Amino acid sequence: MKANRQWTLVARPQGDDFASALKWQETPKPVPQEGQALVRTLYLSLDPANRLWMKAEPSYIPPVPLDGPMWGGIIGVVEASRTPDYAVGDIVTGLGGWADYKLAASGEMSKITPPPGVPLTAFMSVLGATGLTAYFGLLDVGKPKPGDTLVVSAAAGAVGSIVGQLGKIKGCKVIGIAGSAAKCTKLVDEFGFDHAINYRTENVRERLAELAPMRADGGGGVDVYFENVGGEIGNAVYDNLAMRARVVLCGLISQYNTVGQPTGADLTKVLMRRATIEGFLILDFFQRAPEAVAELAGWVADGRIKYDEDIVEGLEHTLGAFNRLFAPGGEHTGKLIIKVSEPVA
Ligand SMILES: NC(=O)c1ccc[n+]([C@@H]2O[C@H](COP(=O)([O-])OP(=O)(O)OC[C@H]3O[C@@H](n4cnc5c(N)ncnc54)[C@H](OP(=O)(O)O)[C@@H]3O)[C@@H](O)[C@H]2O)c1
Repeated sequence: MKANRQWTLVARPQGDDFASALKWQETPKPVPQEGQALVRTLYLSLDPANRLWMKAEPSYIPPVPLDGPMWGGIIGVVEASRTPDYAVGDIVTGLGGWADYKLAASGEMSKITPPPGVPLTAFMSVLGATGLTAYFGLLDVGKPKPGDTLVVSAAAGAVGSIVGQLGKIKGCKVIGIAGSAAKCTKLVDEFGFDHAINYRTENVRERLAELAPMRADGGGGVDVYFENVGGEIGNAVYDNLAMRARVVLCGLISQYNTVGQPTGADLTKVLMRRATIEGFLILDFFQRAPEAVAELAGWVADGRIKYDEDIVEGLEHTLGAFNRLFAPGGEHTGKLIIKVSEPVA
């Protein structure tokens, strides 16, 4: 490739109007300077958090600057190097652009060597930030115990599908909330969830009261809620919390495209049930990645964790693919990944 195709962030999106905010452009292929390597993107990770990075307000990283490439997690191959940190042919991962190429400074990217039989994309899904989010969010923050009732929203997505399976490994009764009948069937039949609730056709509040009933002695209810969505779905789960429940506040995707202030969560029952809500960011756990990757890889190898990837071919299709994350009840399941180029050019 002689040019560098990229999606340039030209404006802060209004709502879900990503087409006005991102422009497809060709720029010259970058040339590495002393201390840099040229990385060709193989895979680009598309994540709901990218939407937060597009806003003018800082999230947990600064806003993506206007008139430069949109940022995203990438896996790439080193094509040229002027740093001893990287050799031509190294496979690396880290923050890159929605682009064909990235100039990486010394030490900026991590090298990956997939074990035999493990596809590179697994380092974006189950063995990457997605799996780590599920692992540390559920196990360290949610602290599930055998016999607990665990509820997870956006359950058929990248993080949610792993959270539910980890909950089963830890002996929980697992209830997933998702946006279509096909997703609910998949949760139970493929991922081994005990129950799935279609929030678009069922009353989540009432179904949870049936599946995790409160008992006369004060027991029962939802012990751990892995919150990915917020809004009305979150409120319905909060209404069914057990005494001393733990809520892992991982994401609030229903609010990411909201223009103006989102309407507030109803936390009355959080108070009444003395529940704990803890905000969780995977950034705080990256230094413990090796322990999570080792355990997750073992569970994948012995078949206790299945993972699902939604791979779209072609950088030019990034915009259409990104919209799928914000389509309640749409076809997207698992980890959304753009295949940008082949490992061997
Ligand atoms: N805290 C962290 O460090 C961290 C790290 C990674 C991800 N996250 C968060 O985890 C959540 C899931 O991320 P993911 O990467 O696994 O994405 P994902 O679940 O693979 O994809 C998003 C899914 O969310 C659901 N959704 C979208 N808009 C919705 C709406 N308005 N109302 C209800 N559901 C909606 C859709 O599923 P349905 O069709 O089932 O509705 C969609 O397929 C996000 O909130 C993300 O920000 C947090």
